[in-house]
Amino acid sequence: RAKVRTRHFLEAKQKGIRITGLTSYDTNTAAIFDEAGIDFLLVGDSAGNTVLGYDTTVPVTADELIPLTRAVASSVRRAFVIADLPFGSYEIGAEQALTTAIRFMKETGAHAVKLEGGRRSANQISRIVEAGIPVMAHIGFTPQSEHRLGGHRVQGRGSDADELLADALAVEDAGAFAVVLEMVPSDAARRVTEALTIPTIGVGAGPHVDGQLLVWTDFAGLTSGRMPKFVKRYADLRGALTQAVADFREEVASGAYPAPEHEYE
Ligand code: KIV
Ligand code: NA
Repeated sequence: RAKVRTRHFLEAKQKGIRITGLTSYDTNTAAIFDEAGIDFLLVGDSAGNTVLGYDTTVPVTADELIPLTRAVASSVRRAFVIADLPFGSYEIGAEQALTTAIRFMKETGAHAVKLEGGRRSANQISRIVEAGIPVMAHIGFTPQSEHRLGGHRVQGRGSDADELLADALAVEDAGAFAVVLEMVPSDAARRVTEALTIPTIGVGAGPHVDGQLLVWTDFAGLTSGRMPKFVKRYADLRGALTQAVADFREEVASGAYPAPEHEYE
C-alpha cells in the first residue's frame, strides 16, 4: 500500500473515509500499528505521562522526544509520522517554532509536526508550512496549557463553541493540513468539521469528525487508573502482562522454567 501523504488526509475527508491515528513512542508499537493499517502515528508529548512518568506534558523537552520520534519514523512503511512539538519549543514566536520544527524534521525522519493552539499559534503554523513542513494543529483541550485551563476539562461548551470555530478557521487559514479536536462536545466538533476543508481528528470529540486518534497505552489498556470518558480500551495489556509476570515468578520458583527446550547443550 502507498505511503500516506498529506493529500490523502484531504482526499479522505472529501470521500468520507475516516482516518485513524494512534500515538506511538517506540519501534515495536510503531511497526505493529503500521502493519495493521493505522494511517498516522503521533509521537505525542503524552510520552511525558506514558513513557517518562511525569504528571503533565509541561516538562517534556525536544531532547527527550527526538529519540522516540526517530524510533517510530524508522519503523514504519506506510503510516504518516507526526512529531509533537513540546511545551516551550514554539510559543515564543514563529522563528523559534520553525527552528524547532526543522530540528525535528532533520533529526527524526518524521513527516510533519504538531503543535497546540488556534489563533495564538497561527503565525507559527504559517511560518513552518512556508518552509515546507506540514503542520497538524491541535485545539480544544490543549494539555500543555492545563494549568491555565484548570485541569483536564471539556472545552468549547456553550458560547465557547464560537471560540473553538474561530481557532479552527485560523489554523486552516494558516495552512495546517489537519486539526486535532481534543475533549470538545460532539455538536461543537460537528460544526467545526462542517466549516473546514481540512480534516478534523477527534480525541474525545464524538463521532462527527473526519478521524479518530487515541493514546495507544489507553487504547490498549496498559495505563492504570481512571480513564477519560472518551477512551475505549480495545485490549487489556495491563492484565495480560500482570498475569505473565505472575506465571514467570511461579515457574522460576517451581523450577518449571527454564525447561529442557530453553537450555544450550
Ligand atoms: O501527545 C498526545 O498524545 C496528543 C494527543 C492526545 C492529541 O497530543
Ligand atoms: Na501532545
